[in-house]
Amino acid sequence: MATPHISAEPGDFAPAVIMPGDPYRADRMAKLVLREPKVISDVRGIRAYTGTVDGKRLSIMASGMGMPSISLYATELYRFFGVERIIRVGTAGGISPEVARGDVIVAVGAHTTSSMNELRIPSVHFSAVADFPMAAAAVAAALGDPLVKTGTILSEDHFYFKAPGAMEALEAHRVLGVEMEAAGLYGVAAAEGGAALAVLTVSDHLVVPGRDMTSEERETLFTRALDLALAAAFA
Ligand code: HPA
Repeated sequence: MATPHISAEPGDFAPAVIMPGDPYRADRMAKLVLREPKVISDVRGIRAYTGTVDGKRLSIMASGMGMPSISLYATELYRFFGVERIIRVGTAGGISPEVARGDVIVAVGAHTTSSMNELRIPSVHFSAVADFPMAAAAVAAALGDPLVKTGTILSEDHFYFKAPGAMEALEAHRVLGVEMEAAGLYGVAAAEGGAALAVLTVSDHLVVPGRDMTSEERETLFTRALDLALAAAFA
C-alpha cells in the first residue's frame, strides 16, 4: 500500500513511532536501539525502520523539518498505518533562562505562530497539548534528573525571523524553547485520534549567551532524550 509519502503495508509499522527530524539521525537511532531493524518505507529520502526493543516492536522514521512536513507524515501514519503513538525526538533553541544547552524539554504544550491549528476548529484558539500518559511516563523515566524540564514550547515556521519583542514576551510566559514541529504534530494527533509527545534536546540558546552544541555533542546528548522517548513509547 502506498500513500503519497509512505510506501509500506499497514502491519509494517509498530504501534509507536520515534520520530527525529533528520533522516540520517533516524538511520543512526535505528542502528543504536532496534534489534533486527528492517527498512519498511523509503520515499523522498525518508526511511522508516521497524525492529524490536526488549522484544517489543518499535518503528523509527524521520519527519523532515517544519510543521507541514511532520503533519503529513503523522496524518498518514495515524490514518492509514495503524500507528497510535508518535514521539518526536528533536532539538530546540532555549528561550527561558530556566533551560540550558544540553537540557531536555518534555513539551507538554506547544504554542505556535503557524495558522495550521487556527484553521482546525472555527473561531477557536486550539490548544496543542501532548498526550498526558506519555508525558507522565517520560517525566517518570527521568527519575528527577534536574536537566529534564517540563513545560511549554513555541513551534514556529521561521527559523531566522523573530518578531520584535517576541522573545521577551515568550520568556515572561515561561516558554522554555522554540522548535518547528511539535504544535503541528499535536494538532494532527488530536484530529486523527492518536497520541503524541515531543522530547527536545536544547541545542542552542536564544537568550542566554554561550557556546552552542557541536553536532557530535548533539548526537551524544540525544541518547538522554531517546531514553525518555522509549519510556513514553512503551508506557
Ligand atoms: N529555532 C527553531 N528551531 C530550532 C532552534 C531555533 O532556534 N534551535 C533548534 N531547533
